Order: sequence, then C-alpha cells, then structure tokens
Amino acid sequence: MTTWPTGMAGLAWGADYNPEQWPEDVWAEDVELMRRAGVTMVSVGIFSWALIETSEGKYEFDWLDRVLDLLHEGGIRVDLATATASPPPWLTTAYPDVLPVRADGVRFTHGSRQEYCPSSPVYRAKAVALATALAERYREHPALAAWHVGNEYGCHVARCCCDRCAEAFRTWLQHRHGDLDTLNEAWATAFWSQHYSLWDQVLPPRVTPTFGNPGQLLDFDRFCSDALLELYKAERDALRGLTPDVPITTNFMVGWTFDALDYWAWAREVDFVSNDHYTRSEDDDRHVELAMAADLTRGLAGGRPWLLMEHSTSAVNWQPRNIAKQPGELRRNSFAHIARGADGTLFFQWRQSRAGAERYHSAMVPHAGTETKVYREVCEVGAEYGLLGELVGSTVDASVAIVYDWRSRWISGQPTHPTEDFSYQETVFGLYRQLWDAGVTVDFVPPSADLSSYRLVVVPALYSVTDADAAKIADYVDGGGHVLVTYMSGLTDERGHVRLGGYPGAFRDLLGVWTEEFFPLRADEVVRLDDGGAAGVWTELLHVRGAEVVSSYADGPLPGVPAVTRHQHGAGTAWYLACGLVADGLRRVVDAALERAGVTAAPGLEIVRRRGRHDGEPVSWLVAINHAAEDVALPASGVELLSGSLVDGRLVVPAGAVAVLREMV
Ligand code: GAL
Ligand code: ZN
Repeated sequence: MTTWPTGMAGLAWGADYNPEQWPEDVWAEDVELMRRAGVTMVSVGIFSWALIETSEGKYEFDWLDRVLDLLHEGGIRVDLATATASPPPWLTTAYPDVLPVRADGVRFTHGSRQEYCPSSPVYRAKAVALATALAERYREHPALAAWHVGNEYGCHVARCCCDRCAEAFRTWLQHRHGDLDTLNEAWATAFWSQHYSLWDQVLPPRVTPTFGNPGQLLDFDRFCSDALLELYKAERDALRGLTPDVPITTNFMVGWTFDALDYWAWAREVDFVSNDHYTRSEDDDRHVELAMAADLTRGLAGGRPWLLMEHSTSAVNWQPRNIAKQPGELRRNSFAHIARGADGTLFFQWRQSRAGAERYHSAMVPHAGTETKVYREVCEVGAEYGLLGELVGSTVDASVAIVYDWRSRWISGQPTHPTEDFSYQETVFGLYRQLWDAGVTVDFVPPSADLSSYRLVVVPALYSVTDADAAKIADYVDGGGHVLVTYMSGLTDERGHVRLGGYPGAFRDLLGVWTEEFFPLRADEVVRLDDGGAAGVWTELLHVRGAEVVSSYADGPLPGVPAVTRHQHGAGTAWYLACGLVADGLRRVVDAALERAGVTAAPGLEIVRRRGRHDGEPVSWLVAINHAAEDVALPASGVELLSGSLVDGRLVVPAGAVAVLREMV
C-alpha cells in the first residue's frame, strides 16, 4: 500500500486550489505564481461537486481536465478531492432527506456547505458514484498523487438527529449492547423512569426538558463518529478498487475546539494522516497550542510522517476578531509542523477569494497581489522547503508521552459534573504547556498504548478507563515507569459508571490514595498550597494510603489535606495531582517528575529533533524556532541547511527566526 502522495520529490508545499472561483485566464498565471512560490502540491476540487456533476448523473469534467493538465505541466502534484463535501442544490432539492436535522428538529437547508446526513442512503450512493466517476476519469492522470475524501468530516454537522439516524443508531446499539437489557443497564435507565421496553422507543438525544441520559449521550457521540467514518470508508473503498496505488486521506481537525470524531479510530482507516490546524489568533500561546496539535497528529500517524493539509498564511475569517499573522509567523508556524513530523504543509487556500463567505480569509496570493508581505514570505519559505528534502521520512524523538482519549473528552465534557469549570482540553494543555516550556518533546498515545519506551507518561483527566487499560498503566509503573495522573481520572468505567469505594477508582492502588468527596472551587477562587503553589477549579478530600505527600492545601476548603502526592509502586513512581494546579506550582511538579524519570529539560527555544538517514548514515536534524524578540544561542554543531553555513559549537537563532541543523554525530 502506498502511504504517501506519489511522485513527491521533497516536502509538500502548497494549498487548496479552487480554480472554479476564477475565470480560466487566471489559471495559467496561477501555475506560474505557484512555481515562483515553490509549490509542489495542491488539493483540487474539494467544493466542486455542483460544477462537476451539474445535474443528476451528468458529469462535466472538461474544466477539471484542463486544470489538472496545467498543474501537471507546471510540475505540481495533485491531491484530488472526491468533491463530496458540499452536495449541490439540485441534489438536496430532489432528495430533501439528505439534509441533516438538529436535536431540536430543525432540518438544515442548502446554501452553505456540509449539509448531509450521514445515514442518508441517497447521499452515500451519490457520493460514492461521484468518487467512482472521478477515479475512473483520472486514474491514469499523471498529476494524481493522492485522494482527498470529503473534507473535514463533522466540522459543521457532527450529529444528525433525523429519523434515519434514529434507526441507524438503534442498529449500532444492537451491535454494541446486544439486547435491550444490556442497553438499559449500560444507560442506567432505572434512573428517572427511563427504562426502554422496545427498541423503537430508543432515540437520538433530541431536545429534552432537562439533562439527558449520560450513557445515551456518550453512545450517540460514539455512533456519530462511527457513522461518519462509515461514510468515509464507503468512498475510500470505491477509490481503492480503481486506484490501488494512490494513497487516500481525509483531513482531520486536530485542534482546540473540534472534538466530535474519535481520531484514534479514524487514523487506522487512512493511508496517511493529514490535519487542518488554525491558530487561535488572539491567544499569546497560540504557537504552543499549535505544537500540541502537531504532536497529537503525529501520534495519530503512529509516528510516521503526516501532512498538514491546511493552515493559514495570515488571518482567517471565522474567529470573533481575525488577527493577521506577524511577519515571520507563517514561517514559524510552518516549520513547527515540520519539526513535529509533518513532511509537508499546505494552506487554505491558494488565491484569496474575491467573493463568498471566505473572501477575507488569507491565502498564498492575497487580494492585493504579489507585492505583499504574504506572497513574499510564501516565496521565501517555499524556497527554504526546497532545501529540506533530506528530512522526508525521518521521525521525531520523544521520551515523554501524554495519554489522550476522546471518550474521556466527550463524557467529561457533558453537563452534570461537579463543576462546569473543568475542561478536558485545558487540563491536557496545562500540562503540555509546562512540558513545552521545559523544552521536552511529547508523543500522544491512546490509553491502550504500549508505554514501555517512555520515561514519563502523563495521564490527564482519563475520566473513563477500562480495567484493561488501567492495568496496563499500572504494569508500566510496576516495571519502573513514571506516571503523572491528574484529577478527573479513573472515575468511571467505559460506560461512564462511577467506580465505587473511593475516587479515583481505577487508579487508587497505583496512586496509593483515596478520595472521599470532591470540593470544586468557586468561580475564580484560588487556594494556596504549603509549597507556595496555587490551585483553581478543583480540590478533593483525599487520604493517602501508601503515597507520600508532596504538598497540601494551606487554605481554602481543605486546609492540611494533601494536594499532590507521590507513590512508589513496584519499581516506578506514580504522581497524583488532585487539584487544578496552576503556573509555577504545576511547573515544579512537572520538573520534579521529569527529573525523577531522568528526562533532561532544555528550556529556551522550541527545539525538536528528527532522526533519519542521510547519505546512508544515521543522522539527526535539530529544528529550532525562536518565538522571542531576542536572538538565542545554543550549543550545537553541524550544517545549517537554510543558510548552508557550518555551525561549530554555537548556533545562533535570530529573534523570530528558524534554523534547521543537520547535526554532526
Ligand atoms: C477549513 C476548511 C476550508 C476552509 C478553512 C478556512 O475548515 O476545510 O475549506 O473553510 O477552514 O479556515
Ligand atoms: Zn440523519
């Protein structure tokens, strides 16, 4: 199986290309400007359904033929979309039940995009037919490098509550639970008279008078992720049959807000992982959040190279205030993805639209043309990418892992928890941030991962955990591993049922503690710890049973109660963070855990090492990104590939700049 776009000589560099928004005489100039910008790959046709299949079963490929031919003549590889991301108005008019339905019963209408229900047989049949027609037409086209199925599954419509989805949900539940008794037990329907006596009574979580059933909500989240995955697979399998050597992907949305898909499951179904990432433009830590998303994407790719399918050259159009990127930011963002294992980065999009909802979204060629900060930087970075072909296929070094789990994210995000101030993503990011500051590269792994290659494993808010996964984590520590577990971990089984006998049920023995009651804090309340640290959001009435107390509360609702503990378990150590430790206090615990695990911190620059081979020899490349306003020097030797200069003992990375060093071993 081919696991990377074919015919790529070096790193991928390019964008979504939407030529259908422009008169044909612009296309030749596009290719010319792409060549100047060093573009090697573009994604074509993502939103072209209405212009390819102009009425039911009538395909018009001529314009697309000319686009692909032009790109090929220009030496640009094509990631060809199946064009199924936005069904055309003729389709939704003829078959209105393609349109998805919200929890409150409102059916969406066309005029935007992604207006399809995952359970609609018509949508599925038409999408597979279109993908098939494209594969038949372009299977031999020399520009074809990869297939791009759909686009950002679930981005706008992750859940549909229509009657068809109700039926499909029941079938999914029958598959999962077998009989209605097991479903009743899993959903704990003895509560509030929710017992089901017939399958037909079981519905998607539509609008109810008050809190819905947590088990139903969780199963619906799982069902929706699976239903969209089935849709992707239907297109993929059609393509696979016709073009077995062309790799297939769909662009994920690993980032801050989107959480609807269990990407561990999705990642198994793509030939290579690709991701879309947009920075939170008003956030000073946006580059750290970018790094986290990139590391998680590499985790999904199982450590193999992945592709950043979309990011922005500058502002987007969909945030409350769309802050433009600073000079140099596009470069730092691009290189941060490359450092963290991407073998290419593409933008949304090539030429800034002059109309439509995305007309103020930046692109590689802005409205103002080529004499611009953006296009100049695009050309510079494109040329730099051309110097880095040797990195392709190399991997990233990490000795620390973070366990990441969509099920825990979903269920801990439901209402009816002890506090609404808890956030899964904030909890993960809080720890990631400290590790990033410490200059430690992190892998993300699923709860079932083999942890043996890591020195330290961070387990943030693993709310719902199976016995088997909890045992794996405990065995890892038993064998000499180090873990740092946070509050909101181990509370429930995989159905979301609380584990009894004291929190955190699944990890009590491993951590050598038990908690009798949660004491979440008031909004903005901060409690002090006796080591000078401080905590917000959460505290708990914890007792040690074997663990050492690292620090206790100095005030707040639980003075004198342990806040951070450490337990020798077998040959390893298990730390427990029972509260929402902030800033310096969190940093001290993370540093102490790193030190005990033998991981060297290297604060200063963003530095990541990729390892691979060059001229047949094993080598490492150090990618250094300076986000600060001052130059930074570090001890290093080798060849700096962007300048071609020899570095002998001291590498200086100027303020705001990047460096890529092939290190001498
Ligand atoms: C992505 C999408 C693109 C474009 C982009 C704008 O979500 O895949 O088509 O809309 O956002 O930032
Ligand atoms: Zn539906």
